[in-house]
Amino acid sequence: MTVPDITLNNGLKIPQLGFGVFQIDPDETRAATLAAFEAGYRHIDTAEMYGNESGVGEAVRDSSLDRSEVFVTSKLDNGSHDHDDALKAFDQTLAELGFDYLDLFLVHWPLPDVGDFVETWKAMEKIYESGRAKAVGVSNFTPQHLGRLAAEATVPPAVNQVEVHPYLRNDEVRAYGVEHGIATEAWSPIARGKVLEDPTITRIAENLDRTPAQVTLRWHLQRGDIVFPKSVTRSRVEENFAIFDFELSGTDMTDIDGLDRGERTGPDPDTFNPVPG
Ligand SMILES: NC(=O)c1ccc[n+]([C@@H]2O[C@H](COP(=O)([O-])OP(=O)(O)OC[C@H]3O[C@@H](n4cnc5c(N)ncnc54)[C@H](OP(=O)(O)O)[C@@H]3O)[C@@H](O)[C@H]2O)c1
Repeated sequence: MTVPDITLNNGLKIPQLGFGVFQIDPDETRAATLAAFEAGYRHIDTAEMYGNESGVGEAVRDSSLDRSEVFVTSKLDNGSHDHDDALKAFDQTLAELGFDYLDLFLVHWPLPDVGDFVETWKAMEKIYESGRAKAVGVSNFTPQHLGRLAAEATVPPAVNQVEVHPYLRNDEVRAYGVEHGIATEAWSPIARGKVLEDPTITRIAENLDRTPAQVTLRWHLQRGDIVFPKSVTRSRVEENFAIFDFELSGTDMTDIDGLDRGERTGPDPDTFNPVPG
């Protein structure tokens, strides 16, 4: 099964379906990532904050894949927003992964009341210009944050990774991305399992002889977003990958669109301001 690519605003291609490793135990990350490679995934989403970058790097080296066949994203930790700290944190991320380049590096959270994310972005631009990250982007940025960045940035973010699932369509931020050439990556695409018992989703799944997770992931793909569900369960890793041989009808899409209730599973980017430790 071939995963379609999305072309980012600098020409770089990213597989539309990947594998997320948030909350995977560092000791289990190598095996989980290798299982994902076996199932066909070629795109891994990690972060310094997850504490498991080294397991991802080991899996890439221990697989039969060439580094160039895998797309790896990592993210700048919230405690490293200072310009020079951000440069050091990127070096540390590469060291943890054991890579000489990263495909995509993101500012994990905007932290609007902690520091100045525009200064952080200047470091991201330097990292991009060095060629050691093939693309740079942001995560959890609202249209207001993106607007501020656009006014001062020379390199536009290639992606914005935000919470999106049927209970939180997040259409305002997605529309900003479409208008400004920033691809949307949907985190917690199945709302950590919460949407899987929704009667609308289970009805569509039964009609199509698919699982609720497959229907939900297919909804994301047909909306054009990039997704990377997480699972440590091999059968689910395979199930989540088997979504390229069926389609949701326009009515199915509209019915799932109708489930939006503005419900977050994670923090609100406008108010999430942890004091860096
Ligand atoms: N940028 C950010 O701030 C941010 C925040 C959160 C997440 N993310 C990224 O997005 C990725 C995905 O989000 P997420 O991990 O929060 O949530 P998710 O992928 O929506 O859900 C993961 C949960 O659903 C279960 N699951 C997975 N596939 C399933 C299936 N087919 N049937 C039933 N249950 C299934 C998993 O269980 P098992 O593992 O036990 O199988 C796990 O408990 C993360 O791994 C991370 O890369 C980014």
